[in-house]
Amino acid sequence: MRGAQDLVLGVESSCDEMAAAVVRGGRTILSNVIHGQADLHAPYGGVVPELASRDHVRAISQVVREALTQAGVVPEELAGVAVTVGPGLIGSLLVGLSFAKALAYRFRLPIVGVHHLSGHLASIALGSETVSPPHLGLVVSGGHTALYRLEAPGKGVLLGETRDDAVGECFDKVAKLLGLPYPGGPSVSLAARAGRTDAHPFPRPLEGAAGLDFSYSGLKTAVALEVKRCSPMTEAVRADLAASFEAAATDVLIARTRRAVQQEGLGTVIVVGGVAANHRLREGMGRAAREDGFRAVFPPPALCTDNAAMIAAAGWQRLARGERDDLRLNAFSRSPLAPARAPRPPA
Ligand code: KG4
Ligand code: ZN
Repeated sequence: MRGAQDLVLGVESSCDEMAAAVVRGGRTILSNVIHGQADLHAPYGGVVPELASRDHVRAISQVVREALTQAGVVPEELAGVAVTVGPGLIGSLLVGLSFAKALAYRFRLPIVGVHHLSGHLASIALGSETVSPPHLGLVVSGGHTALYRLEAPGKGVLLGETRDDAVGECFDKVAKLLGLPYPGGPSVSLAARAGRTDAHPFPRPLEGAAGLDFSYSGLKTAVALEVKRCSPMTEAVRADLAASFEAAATDVLIARTRRAVQQEGLGTVIVVGGVAANHRLREGMGRAAREDGFRAVFPPPALCTDNAAMIAAAGWQRLARGERDDLRLNAFSRSPLAPARAPRPPA
């Protein structure tokens, strides 16, 4: 790899965060700049794609410049540029991709496109623990809820995924129902701290079902019905609803993971994506891991939600394997990370 220090610039703009980071050797963060847009989207209770991409255009030069300055690096020193190419909002993705291409062209740097979920999976490399494949990967974010068997960084098979809503999306919708501010996950989690997890018996969809799929739309509907029944909403009622919902949502993730560990006979699971920042999930998964004798590894909480350091880490892995893209690189709004495992032939 060019560049004595293996320095990679990561650029991430798949949704409402404009982020740039410089990472050395795929593990050491030299800078990690994130320009969020929570205030911009808060009045709408969710991300408005057109507003997101317009704000990215305004922010990107400054964010990349700041990432380089904070790292004390000039572009000529970089071993390459890594950029998220999808899945995500196409307008938002194109802003980051066009900028990364221009930078790579101007400074004659190698460029590699990164699948957003490969980025989340690579966020583990930025923590203190070392994980080597094969292992399981549980991706829990605003757009995805999926379990993978990973045979190499970012490569493997899909074991199960949500049949409807993603768990992070469900947190966001429940926040809206409870009148809590956007972004929903952290505010539901905060409200839940003062509540009782057994106040409302919410369903745990597919918890014990065959296979490894997830489902969150029924839980969301159950919360909506309960919110209507519990009117008027007081602080105490809100806390109980938040705590009972959070327990149901995270219990299912833990139960499905335990089943996957048993089924696949693997000793390690990495848990990544925005919802991996959730306290209850981290604690509950840790407990399950101790009981069942597997290892559950999470990224540092600040690196669970979207950031560019994870994109740089995943890009470094591609560059280290000798992989390169060129300026024909394009963005995509949807694309699976890995194929679903083929059904087993009948015995
Ligand atoms: O990975 P991410 O930043 O973006 C996507 O790729 O989707 O994940 C964002 C999601 C949002 O749905 C947000 O509400 C959720 O992660 N989230 C949380 C927490 N922090 C973020 N959900 C539950 N508890 C949290 N502490
Ligand atoms: Zn993400």
